[in-house]
Amino acid sequence: MAESLATSLPTDETVQTVSTAQTIGLSDIAEIARKSDEIIAYLQSEFKSKDRSLAVRFSISQAADLVGRSSTAIRTAEKQGKISSPDVNEKGRRIGYTLSNLNEMRRYFGTTPFRNTQTDEAIILALQSFKGGVGKSTFTVHLAQYLAIQGYRVCVIDTDSQATTTTLFGYNPDADVALDETIFSYMDGEKNSLDYALHDTHWDQLKLIPANLELYGLEYSLAGYIARADSNDALDALLMLRRGIQSIEDQFDVILIDPPPALGMISLSVLNAANAMIVPTRPSATDFASTAQFFKMLRDTYEQFMAAGLAEPRFKFLKVVVNALDESKSAHAAISDMMSDVYGTARLNATMKNSAEIDNATARLMTVYELDAPITSRDVHRRCKAYLKAVNSEIEFLIRKSWPSHRDALRNEGRV
Ligand SMILES: Nc1ncnc2c1ncn2[C@@H]1O[C@H](COP(=O)(O)OP(=O)(O)OP(=O)(O)O)[C@@H](O)[C@H]1O
Ligand SMILES: [Mg+2]
Repeated sequence: MAESLATSLPTDETVQTVSTAQTIGLSDIAEIARKSDEIIAYLQSEFKSKDRSLAVRFSISQAADLVGRSSTAIRTAEKQGKISSPDVNEKGRRIGYTLSNLNEMRRYFGTTPFRNTQTDEAIILALQSFKGGVGKSTFTVHLAQYLAIQGYRVCVIDTDSQATTTTLFGYNPDADVALDETIFSYMDGEKNSLDYALHDTHWDQLKLIPANLELYGLEYSLAGYIARADSNDALDALLMLRRGIQSIEDQFDVILIDPPPALGMISLSVLNAANAMIVPTRPSATDFASTAQFFKMLRDTYEQFMAAGLAEPRFKFLKVVVNALDESKSAHAAISDMMSDVYGTARLNATMKNSAEIDNATARLMTVYELDAPITSRDVHRRCKAYLKAVNSEIEFLIRKSWPSHRDALRNEGRV
C-alpha cells in the first residue's frame, strides 16, 4: 500500500510549487483537489477490489439465530435441495452463508420480518442534526446494514453532497455517480418516480440512492424555485422529497435518510419526508448546546410549516442518541447522565461508545460489519459490535413497535 500510495502523492516538485509561491491561487487549489481525488481513488481501488459481499459470512449457528429456525432444520432443507448450500472454498470446505443465502432461507421457512403493507407504514427515518461530524452517516450505514442482516428491505437515501454514505457503500461519488442518478432529477421535476435512482449494493435487499458533490446545486435550484413561486407552490417544493419517497416506499420496510449538516432546502425537505427521527449527538458541552439549538430550530421550523398550511408532524419515534462516548472522560459521562435525566424517554437507552474500530473501518471506506477480521484488536472489534448491536437493535424494536402486524410477535418475545 505504502509504495503505490506514495506514487500517487504530490511529487517534491509539486509541493515546492505550492509552498514557494507568493500566494496560493486557483491553480494550486485545483492541484490539491486533483491530488485529493487521487488518494480517494486509490483507497477505493485498494479496498473495493476485495469483494465486500464475500467478506460478510454467517456460520450455521448465526444463520439459525438470524433466520429463526434450528441448524438441523436448515441442514435438512439443504439436503432436500429446498434451499441452496453455502459456497465452498477450493479445498471443498464450507465458507459460510451469505446474506442472500439467509434471505432465501427466510423465504423458504416463512420467517421474513417484512412489514404488512396493508397495516404497517414504511418507516422513513431521518438521522438528523444540523451539526456536522456527530455520526449521522456512520449511524445511517451501520443501521442500514444491521437491518439488512435482520432481513428487512432497506433503502438508504444520501441527500448530502459530501456523499459520505455513498462512499461507505463503495462508490466514488465523483467518478461513479452522475447527477441524474441522485435525487436531483426527481426533485427537478424531470422524473415522476425515484425508481431510476435506486442502486443495488453489495448487501442483499439493501438499495442506495447515492449523492455526489453536484447535488449541492439542488439547494440553489430549490431556493430559486421557492423565491419565484407563490406560497402554495413553494410549499409544494418542500414536499417533493416526500412524494418521491412515496413513489418507491412499497418496495421497502425502512427508508433511511442521511441529510446534510445544515438547515437548507434539502434538510427542510427531509424534515417533511420523515416519519421518524434519530438525533445523534456527542456528549460534550458544545455538542450538547448544538443539539439544544437544533431542537429550537426544529420547533420554529415546524411552527412555520404549520402556519403555512402543512399538517403537524407526527413522528413514530424521535430519539436523541449519544455517540462516541469516551468513558475515560468524566465530562462525557456527566453530560451523558444529564441527558438521560433531562430527556428521559426521548433519549435512546443504548449509547454508542467511542471506538477505534469505527475509525479504522471508515479509513478503509467500509463499515465494521464488512471487516473480515478485527483491525484494532479482537476485543475492541467485539466491543464495537456489541455497542452497535445495542443501538441498532433498540431502533429495530422502535420500528417493529410501530407496525401493528409485529405486535403479537413482540408480545410473544416478552418485549411489550
Ligand atoms: N462511535 C464512534 N467512534 C469513533 N469514531 C466515530 C464514531 N462515530 C463517528 N465516528 C467518526 O467521526 C467522524 C464523523 O462521523 P460521520 O461522518 O458519521 O458524521 P456526520 O454527522 O455524518 O458528519 P457530516 O455532518 O459531515 O455529514 C468519522 O470519521 C467517523 O468515523
Ligand atoms: Mg455525514
